[in-house]
Amino acid sequence: MSNLLHVTRQKMASNDNRTLLFLVFSFLSLLQINSCIAQNVKGGYWFLGSGITASDIDSTLFTHLFCAFADLDASTNQVVISSSNAQSFATFTSDVQQKNPSVLTLLSIGGGGGGSIADNFASMASQSSSRKTFIDSSIALARSNGFHGLDLDWEYPDTDAKMANLALLLQEWRAAVAAEAASSGKDALLLSAAVYYRPHYWSPTDYPAAVMAANLDWINAMAYDFFGSWSSTTGPLAALYNPGNGLSGDDGVSAWIQAGMPAGQIVLGFPFYGRAFTLADANNHGYFAPITGTAISPDGSIVYNQITKYISQHSATTVYNSTVVSAYCYSGTTWITYDDTQTISTKVGYAKGRGLKGYFAWHVGGDDNWVLSQTAQEAIEDQQHRRWFWLVMLISIAIVVFFIFGLICYLQRRTLKSEGILGVIKGFSSRFKTMAHKVESPESGAPNLQAFHYATLRAATDNFSSENKLGEGGFGPVYKIRQGSICWIGKNVFIS
Ligand SMILES: *[C@@H]1O[C@H](CO)[C@@H](O)[C@H](O)[C@H]1NC(C)=O
Repeated sequence: MSNLLHVTRQKMASNDNRTLLFLVFSFLSLLQINSCIAQNVKGGYWFLGSGITASDIDSTLFTHLFCAFADLDASTNQVVISSSNAQSFATFTSDVQQKNPSVLTLLSIGGGGGGSIADNFASMASQSSSRKTFIDSSIALARSNGFHGLDLDWEYPDTDAKMANLALLLQEWRAAVAAEAASSGKDALLLSAAVYYRPHYWSPTDYPAAVMAANLDWINAMAYDFFGSWSSTTGPLAALYNPGNGLSGDDGVSAWIQAGMPAGQIVLGFPFYGRAFTLADANNHGYFAPITGTAISPDGSIVYNQITKYISQHSATTVYNSTVVSAYCYSGTTWITYDDTQTISTKVGYAKGRGLKGYFAWHVGGDDNWVLSQTAQEAIEDQQHRRWFWLVMLISIAIVVFFIFGLICYLQRRTLKSEGILGVIKGFSSRFKTMAHKVESPESGAPNLQAFHYATLRAATDNFSSENKLGEGGFGPVYKIRQGSICWIGKNVFIS
């Protein structure tokens, strides 16, 4: 048994400091986890002329809002904001932050305006000098208009060569964004891209998923428009699960993950609009029923708040199909496919269940008194938030308790000179150290502590004689020794 022990005050104090630091870091990392959860995307696109202004958006229901669209100027390869958009884009961020100061905004570039826009992107991406012009102008434009990020909507790169150029563009863009953040001292701009719902645009043309994962914060998978003006039958606009034709959000998400895009970087898109068709036969109104064309608008598109109006005005029959997760309604020969509240909450549950980064809506102006956006937010809270909340709460409470305990011990050690309390603490420490350590070198000790061999102590206390005994300390008998100091002797020995 070791009856020689050396414990220094400094050493114990530095152990305490380390414990304190550990607790503080644990606590901070827990806060970090909390903020990671908060960084999930509850997103929505907005564009001028969508029926609402930026100030109308209930931004409390979103974490990220995408302002659509800035344009690629084909003659200069610069990103520009059209004169009609200029004013509302410049105040977009401050407008949406009035209701929710922490909402982040991204300037979306491009959009689904057709072949010539896509051709301009392809041309820009094909040369390193034009890529640089595009990238530098995009960053300058985002900063000068107060956006927190940039979102690429190139619909779509449709050859292997264009996909390869997209990869180069994204690599150079990320490098430029990082460099700008370093030189400006601001948070790096977010970088996202709206992409086809699956990584094979038209097989075998594949997105460069690995490069995208490495250089984008996330992708917005446009899991809608599975039926439209090109269709010859009815069908779900944005099925989550395969309705029989292989077109579904789940298929797309699985394919993206298989292609190398981490689930945690995929944001699932759903429509706040529907598509209306004219049935060939009013009595044949299920999925894959023949149609004669679109209804209500030239391309059949109709926003959700108009669909709800249509349903009430025409007493339309509504059907929710839980197998494919989609809704439709019909009245006479008019048939409309859309996402209702059940669809949205199921999709949000799916996104959380698969560990996706979140969801986005195209587009927020289609919502009906925010009922879809509200449904989505509630679904996220229901699915995961409560579980996380309780887990984080319990861990936080445990850490706070340990932290306070550690702090109290530390403060007592520093401020209280009470021998009794110190004795108790020393006693605990020494017991522990007796078990844990061999004898340590006295040279490392504090000036006011010394280690003695048992024999030396026995001699110094006249064989622990009752004349030399002063009484019982917090941890064993206390003896006077020859030099006039006090020594405590229990199982272990402390000299002060
Ligand atoms: C839902 O859609 C699937 C796929 O088209 C179909 O097989 C099924 O019968 C539908 N269910 C209902 C209740 O309409």
